[in-house]
Amino acid sequence: MVFVLAIESSCDDTSAAVLRDGVLLSNVTASQAVHEQYGGVVPELASRAHEQNIVPVVDQALKRAGVEKEQLSAIAFTRGPGLMGSLLVGVNFAKGLALSLGIPLIDVNHLQGHVLAHFIREEGEPYSPPPFPFLCLLVSGGNSQIIRVNAYNDMQILGQTIDDAAGEAIDKCSKVMGLGYPGGPIIDRLARQGNPDAYQFAKPNIPGYDYSFSGLKTSFLYSLRDWLKDDPDFIEHHKEDLAASLEKTIVDILMKKLRMAVKETGITHVAVAGGVSANNGLRNAFHDHAKRYGWTVYIPKFSYTTDNAAMIGIAGHFKYQDHEYCDINSPAFARMQ
Ligand code: KG4
Repeated sequence: MVFVLAIESSCDDTSAAVLRDGVLLSNVTASQAVHEQYGGVVPELASRAHEQNIVPVVDQALKRAGVEKEQLSAIAFTRGPGLMGSLLVGVNFAKGLALSLGIPLIDVNHLQGHVLAHFIREEGEPYSPPPFPFLCLLVSGGNSQIIRVNAYNDMQILGQTIDDAAGEAIDKCSKVMGLGYPGGPIIDRLARQGNPDAYQFAKPNIPGYDYSFSGLKTSFLYSLRDWLKDDPDFIEHHKEDLAASLEKTIVDILMKKLRMAVKETGITHVAVAGGVSANNGLRNAFHDHAKRYGWTVYIPKFSYTTDNAAMIGIAGHFKYQDHEYCDINSPAFARMQ
């Protein structure tokens, strides 16, 4: 039996998971509430919280799995991209533990982990991952990409944001409206009660499969400024419609390029991944496209949309099968390599 311990610490979630032969036994995540008061992740505070959380989180993951650390076959960890201070906590913990147990280390790219979340297998749960090749829309706080996934270890980025990520745009617009952090779940909740056609915001016009969200953010900010001149309580009076219109604009931008990619590649198996894939408007758009265009869509469980170690574990499991280990000297990387 192969037991893999996986560790994720790229941003503000400390997470550990244990897998047996590719089946998830436990997935424990400690989120960091400390950032809420600042309206965004404060890197220094994130690394300090990881440092406090890492031992108890790993301990819990092993306990819930009923696995002793001496039984582990390998340790998978997120090597990047992410916040350097946050990554270093997980990377160095993984290295120390692997060294002390004399077992292989497996480095996982965080973004590939998000894509491979579709392959997380749980005992007694249905398992129907996408077949290769498939397209994956990866949308999170730091990334918005369309990826062609040819195999577990063969992914090609067809397009990506040239400025802000979709989640970043949602979080910033939510901040401008004086809502809490992270904005995504709040905007999602408000949008369910609002009119998506109440307001129009700027949509980008850039070639190919690339995205841009900075223009939308500026358009949202300037529109709001004008409306607030006439009605200082404008946000309070219209927050549901503002959220619904913002969400619709973002979903439209995302789906337009994805439709182009499906049309031009001929690949109709389409997945979505990353924190923003928790969004109900985006999930509905996927179901709608499945009906309208005959796509087969793959939408992850809510618990595997945001950062988690289960996705790092399944990516690590595939690499373990291929004996793809990494050197103890492999440094963390903050940006895509
Ligand atoms: O993947 P993730 O946890 O972190 C990384 O960026 O790696 O994604 C976090 C992003 C945040 O921008 C958050 O606001 C957004 O995902 N998000 C959502 C929802 N839940 C989380 N955005 C829209 N609707 C949601 N329900």
